[in-house]
Amino acid sequence: MSAHNEQAEKVTVRTLRQMKERGEKIASMTAYDAAFANALERAGIDFVLVGDSLGMVVQGHETTIPVTVDEIIYHSRLVARGLGRAMLMADMPFMSYASAGDCLKNAARLMKEGGAEIVKLEWGELEIDMVARLTECGVPVCAHLGLTPQAIHKYGGYRVQGREEKAAAKMKEDARALEEAGADILLLECVPMGLAAEITRDASVPVIGIGAGPDVDGQILVLYDVLDIFPGKRTRFSKNYMEQEGSIHGALETYVREVREVSFPTEQYAFR
Ligand code: KIV
Repeated sequence: MSAHNEQAEKVTVRTLRQMKERGEKIASMTAYDAAFANALERAGIDFVLVGDSLGMVVQGHETTIPVTVDEIIYHSRLVARGLGRAMLMADMPFMSYASAGDCLKNAARLMKEGGAEIVKLEWGELEIDMVARLTECGVPVCAHLGLTPQAIHKYGGYRVQGREEKAAAKMKEDARALEEAGADILLLECVPMGLAAEITRDASVPVIGIGAGPDVDGQILVLYDVLDIFPGKRTRFSKNYMEQEGSIHGALETYVREVREVSFPTEQYAFR
């Protein structure tokens, strides 16, 4: 399998920051194996996330909580073989970054064994320190705010975050603190579009949204939602590109184009 964009310059966190500065939208998606990673590479994706959503969409669990570091490493290795230009981001699973020692050890494993070029962790009060420690060690980091699925049992369900004034102010404060600690990317999940727009204007690093409206620097969706693998189970903010395009390659190419042109997401896929 050869990656389509082997000659194109490799995407790094620096590339994404320059895209933000130029006002160019960033397109990203999850993938869990080499074949789909390569299909995304061919579609012109900027980065691919080996998300712990693999627990739900690949392994059939109800939540992301059972996913292990070894499993993320295994799937990252597969994805790395399908990519050329696109950057590879890997999720740090539940409780794999609860102490500084575990955080550094597991991030190093994702990079050395899995081939990850950036790691993602979900926001919690501890994470500012973890982001700072990773940054000191030269590890690029994406901080995931808003709805953080690893805390699903705390939330008691998948809900939009940051609707109340106090929660919105806290999210803006957290986003600033994470950037100051060294986060290279902020990812906002299920956040009202106005709040996401404010955080994006405030941040110098790229802000990627999923269910965060159009006024962010880029979008990410879960591959299996885009391809409608589980009919009737897609989240409200995901678009079924398979229905629109009828082929996998067409669906992925159209997603990338619509993100770049800001014709996705429309209001229908956003929250107020
Ligand atoms: O695990 C995942 O797929 C994610 C996305 C929802 C951003 O974190």
